[in-house]
Amino acid sequence: MACLAIVQQEQGWVTPESEEAIADYLGMAPMAVQEVTTFYNMYNQKPVGRFKLNVCANAPCMFAGGPQALEHLCGKLGVEPCGTTADGVFTVQPSECLGACGDAPVMLVNDRHMCSFMSNDKLDQLVEGLREAED
Ligand code: FES
Repeated sequence: MACLAIVQQEQGWVTPESEEAIADYLGMAPMAVQEVTTFYNMYNQKPVGRFKLNVCANAPCMFAGGPQALEHLCGKLGVEPCGTTADGVFTVQPSECLGACGDAPVMLVNDRHMCSFMSNDKLDQLVEGLREAED
């Protein structure tokens, strides 16, 4: 898992060639590495935007406004869930539980930065802040 995280941090996603290189390095079957890549949705199996926004879609977040947050975010950015903006800056994805159910609804930015108690205003501020960081 650490190897996959490093590859993703460096390349933005885990290519099949990377899986094979990791398998070779660890002395494992390539299928064993691919099983890990495909089991956890934190690993990108295709290119994503500069900022990947994972909105939790599990039950506690679902009952605390997660679906509305996902809808607001997708509407603001003009993408469908799992879509990437035309400029390649943002990818929005529904996610499995992010382990912060008490802060529902939550979102994770680039697998690193947790955003708690998301409201439409907080989402708007976050997106604008990330856009400014991109410029
Ligand atoms: S259900 Fe959303 S963080 Fe656990």
